[in-house]
Amino acid sequence: MPDNRARYFSAALQVLLLGTFTYYGVKWLMDALDPTKKSRLAAQKQAEQLLKKIGVEGVQLSEYELAIAADLVDPLSMPVEWTQIGGLRETIEEVKETVILPFKQRDIFEGSALLSPPKGVLLYGPPGCGKTMIAKATAKEAGCRFLNLQVSSLTDKWYGESQKLAAAVFSLAVKLQPCIVFIDEIDSFLRARDKNDHEATAMMKAQFMSLWDGLLTDRNCQVIVMGATNRPQDVDKAIMRRMPASFHVGLPDEKQREEILRIILGEENVDNEVFLNLYELACITNGFSGSDLREVCRTAAMSCVRDYLREHSNESNSSLGSDIGSYAALRPITMSDLSNAALRYSTSVAMKS
Ligand SMILES: Nc1ncnc2c1ncn2[C@@H]1O[C@H](COP(=O)(O)OP(=O)(O)OP(=O)(O)O)[C@@H](O)[C@H]1O
Ligand SMILES: [Mg+2]
Repeated sequence: MPDNRARYFSAALQVLLLGTFTYYGVKWLMDALDPTKKSRLAAQKQAEQLLKKIGVEGVQLSEYELAIAADLVDPLSMPVEWTQIGGLRETIEEVKETVILPFKQRDIFEGSALLSPPKGVLLYGPPGCGKTMIAKATAKEAGCRFLNLQVSSLTDKWYGESQKLAAAVFSLAVKLQPCIVFIDEIDSFLRARDKNDHEATAMMKAQFMSLWDGLLTDRNCQVIVMGATNRPQDVDKAIMRRMPASFHVGLPDEKQREEILRIILGEENVDNEVFLNLYELACITNGFSGSDLREVCRTAAMSCVRDYLREHSNESNSSLGSDIGSYAALRPITMSDLSNAALRYSTSVAMKS
């Protein structure tokens, strides 16, 4: 009898050992074959460093939350300030009231259900007019955590993993609140659902919406999802409903263009007559976006470089790339540089519209 018992015991032990070896063996093999393992580990490491940098300590995060945390941005390192955005004063004031004030003056907004801030904010309008700039400046001023969600962070080769990552976006934001979840080009991620959608994508979108609803039911939760798009008509209607506060960032008019040009040229070496005649330049750049105006100014600045090189090419006999002097040696940008550049650029603006 004791012999039998010993035999049973040893067989059970063997099965247990075999099971354990098989489990860890398969796990090791899966890890070794996983092409994304390296980038996942790097993202986790980056997330841990970022969390430390922005002062998040003592918060336990799951593996999925850590993967999403790699998209966190240090708001103070944002390169955009309100003063660098021209011609959008009214929109900026509204964004400040809707998004920033509730974060900063929590006591005032907590008292009433009507005053509770929207859980979704949409910035929409044509390309190159300052939507991303507004989002970045918001993050900087709000001083809250800013999750610049990259859609690629939510995609995973395994079925069901994307849903877990989508869930992690919200659980992470709640753990880190106050937090803004920013989704740039939201139309590409949350576009209208379609019967041709892959099942996993459809499920991820549905999950995203229901988790977003979770935020709506908790009045004290300080998480706002902020989206930006230049194709609002492509965004799913159900998503649009979850973003009741929407701001149109349209093409600038003359006055706004003048303001944008003043900002862009503000710190450049510019001829005095330019600032006196800036409105004229604003008038001939009808239909230009902020980013088009920047391009005009860049082209004008390049003509100064071209002239300098032409003048000095004989003297120094140097080829491009060798020591060609400093920025201070260039002549100032003139009105004719700018209007020539605007004229040349207007064909490409006409083509875009
Ligand atoms: N109102 C503005 N004031 C100053 N600069 C601007 C303004 N709008 C656009 N720009 C310039 O154009 C660039 C692009 O702006 P931004 O990325 O915010 O555009 P966007 O609206 O997000 O465009 P897209 O829809 O293509 O993403 C900025 O980096 C800035 O140089
Ligand atoms: Mg943008």
